Amino acid sequence: MATIFRLDASIRHEGSVTRAVATSLESTLLAAAPDAKVIRRDVGRDPLPSRIWADALAGSHIPDSARTDGQREALVVAMELGDELARADAFIFAIPMYNFGVPPHAKAWIDVVIADPRFSPRAGNPIAGKPAYLVIARGGAYGPGTPREGWDHATGWLKLILGTVWGLDVKVIEAELTAAHVNPALADLRGLAAQNLERAHADAAEHGKGLAERLRAPEAA
Ligand SMILES: Cc1cc2nc3c(=O)[nH]c(=O)nc-3n(C[C@H](O)[C@H](O)[C@H](O)COP(=O)(O)O)c2cc1C
Repeated sequence: MATIFRLDASIRHEGSVTRAVATSLESTLLAAAPDAKVIRRDVGRDPLPSRIWADALAGSHIPDSARTDGQREALVVAMELGDELARADAFIFAIPMYNFGVPPHAKAWIDVVIADPRFSPRAGNPIAGKPAYLVIARGGAYGPGTPREGWDHATGWLKLILGTVWGLDVKVIEAELTAAHVNPALADLRGLAAQNLERAHADAAEHGKGLAERLRAPEAA
């Protein structure tokens, strides 16, 4: 039975594009592989306390007898997050762009995971080579020739961590212009936004099917 890890980082509960597109992938996968188990970590709804990262780092360099209760607790959290990843065969990361970068809750989660020695940039970590899907949504557009080309500091960083540092085999599913229906400055682009969203859902469903096949016959992927 395959295990899927899913991270959600949108602070929106209703109307979240990343949640909806990630669910398209997940439900297509589960339709084809109903036995798959999904481990969920929702840092949008339930962020990690901000002290966990610093306490986990400080506690990791000293003997247990010298640790504070807070440091011990933080190390348990870091280990628990690392175990959730280490147990999974595939990964879905649903992460919006906020303020041209990564949501603080997602950054905090990644920082705490990296405090677990298994996931540090110096480790040969346990999830390298496994399939991962990064679902990212941006209110505006950042492609070549757009006024804000080069302002997306989320996607590249997330690919660096997931793909280069953790060695995952990452596919990116992007929805742009998700704010077109509420931002009058983007009103002319609403048609394009709708097409973009439809394509993101179609890509997600396609990847869900592909993932089910890959999990059935990993050697053929
Ligand atoms: C606090 C906040 C900051 C945002 N900053 C940006 C931004 O810098 N650039 C952008 O294109 N969209 C920005 N957006 C829009 C989101 O990227 C967009 O609404 C996206 O769909 C959010 O993901 P979600 O639909 O899963 O909640 C921001 C939204 C919020 C709530």
